[in-house]
Amino acid sequence: MCGIVGYIGHRDAYPIIVKGLQRLEYRGYDSAGIALYHDGQIVVSKTKGKVDDLKVKAETSNNIEGSLGLGHTRWATHGVPNDTNSHPHYSNSGDLVIIHNGIIENYESIKKALTSRGYEFKTDTDTEVLVNLIEEVKDKEEVKLGQAVQIALNQVVGAYAIAVFDRNKPDEIVVAKLGSPLAIGIGENEYFVASDASPFIEYTNNAVYLEDEEMAIIRLGKEIKLRKIKDDSIAYPNILELQLNLEEIEKGGYDHFMLKEIYEQPRAILDTYRGRLLADQGIVRMAGIDQNLEKFLNANRIIIVACGTSWHAGLVAEYIFEDLARIPVEVEYASEFRYRNPVITENDVLIAISQSGETADTLAAIKLAKEKGAFVFGVCNVVGSSIARETHAGAYTHAGPEIGVASTKAFTTQITVLTLIALKLASEKGIFSSPQFHEILTELENIPSKVEKALESNDLVSHIADIYKDSTNCLYLGRGYNFPVALEGALKLKEISYIHAEGYPAAEMKHGPIALIDEQMPVVVIATKKGHYEKVVSNIQEIKSRSGRIIAVVTEGDETVKELADHVIEVPETNECLTPLLTTIPLQLLSYHIAVMRGCNVDQPRNLAKSVTVE
Ligand code: F6R
Repeated sequence: MCGIVGYIGHRDAYPIIVKGLQRLEYRGYDSAGIALYHDGQIVVSKTKGKVDDLKVKAETSNNIEGSLGLGHTRWATHGVPNDTNSHPHYSNSGDLVIIHNGIIENYESIKKALTSRGYEFKTDTDTEVLVNLIEEVKDKEEVKLGQAVQIALNQVVGAYAIAVFDRNKPDEIVVAKLGSPLAIGIGENEYFVASDASPFIEYTNNAVYLEDEEMAIIRLGKEIKLRKIKDDSIAYPNILELQLNLEEIEKGGYDHFMLKEIYEQPRAILDTYRGRLLADQGIVRMAGIDQNLEKFLNANRIIIVACGTSWHAGLVAEYIFEDLARIPVEVEYASEFRYRNPVITENDVLIAISQSGETADTLAAIKLAKEKGAFVFGVCNVVGSSIARETHAGAYTHAGPEIGVASTKAFTTQITVLTLIALKLASEKGIFSSPQFHEILTELENIPSKVEKALESNDLVSHIADIYKDSTNCLYLGRGYNFPVALEGALKLKEISYIHAEGYPAAEMKHGPIALIDEQMPVVVIATKKGHYEKVVSNIQEIKSRSGRIIAVVTEGDETVKELADHVIEVPETNECLTPLLTTIPLQLLSYHIAVMRGCNVDQPRNLAKSVTVE
């Protein structure tokens, strides 16, 4: 939540920061701002709204020169989104400028103390309190900016990724991190600071990701100095060579990132199993599992923690692990798990699933499980993210950057990784006969081409979307492996089109939701062959006899459901455990088209952010 960008070097900072903020807008888009240093002055432009609004404001009314600057795109936590509360924030003297992603939990008591000592506040934000605390420390203790930041941060409770500079020392930016991500790009006599590497990828491939409780003093013409915030010990920068390329973070001819990412799924799934699945040899290999096989094979149970769409992937995994590998699984919302004193033993394996690898609740659940002695395994998309670093071992999904706020390719690639793990454990336990095992491996290898086929329903789905775009409610039903897909379909629709939608196990319909069904109610039913097909057909009949409108996702060639449903969308036939990878596709397209037809901002739905670094 919130994106931060900073630049110090020999180029104009403004275009770099503005473009960087646009790439980080997925992290929050309530308001945006930029501070530029030029000729002894700091010029701040900020506004409620998007980075495009900021551009208009900055370019029409302010000087945009300078090769030192900080920019921010906000997802509001303290203080409503308005021009005043937008970042960057000044200290009272006007000398220090700060951008901040995170929350200072004890800001009220600090604010009270600062107010009693004569400080004044123009905004409702916790960030303005922090910059003034830094200033007070700097003046009182007569220390340099870096030390002042360090002393101040030792007084705050909360989470932060901050960047600060001083008007009187314009060759330096000080950054610090706890709980929110912060990357430093290292160029030729220039440095970049950002929430992730996307703002500086065309300038440098060399980056340092700060660890929690680390700060860095970035001085032009000097090497970065890293320190531990708590004890002032020196840390050594681990300079990574980034693999990201520019094409991956641009729309590539699609109208929206979400559509591009839906269409990337065949490639993304293939990248996920590439090198891990050798179907012709009957082998699944994954370093993170191979090195920790005993932990998994001896586990009493697997606990899966995640949030949102990743939690839905966890639910699919519950079916797969129990069905294929015969290991008991519990799937938990990370936010509930972390606060309910769960029973965890050293024989438990916890799998944390997260696209961003930064979700605060999931991180807290991981820390709790580690304290209690469990082995913790991460399934993340973002390489080098906090969750990837905090877990004992893990497997990346390799989906590539997911920029649309609504998760699509992250979901299918998470399921792919989890399926590979289940298959590996099943084969180690000798559960399958060789032909059975080979059949699933071969089928998994065929999934990318079957996803391509499922994507061919796009025009039909767009036509169906046009019919139902003005609905106010929608029900999604599925059973077995497709129950979590129903939940995910409903989440996709509500988050980007703002239509109320609910997902249910199809058989639960008669215990309540059936009361909602009338001729106004579209019901999306996943009714693929295998896995309770006849029972789902009965559910469809129950909906039909109450005049509900049925949109059915069926296996290619199905004639029975065609007779009953108002619309059928076909997906190719596959092994039952792999159906979620196909049935999800038309549901993603349906929500996408409905949202576009309703004029919604599909890539940046209201009130949401891609990376939820606050609890
Ligand atoms: C929904 C969506 C969210 C995320 C959730 C967890 O489309 O994107 O529900 O799935 O915020 O995020 P990660 O996976 O980054 O932990």
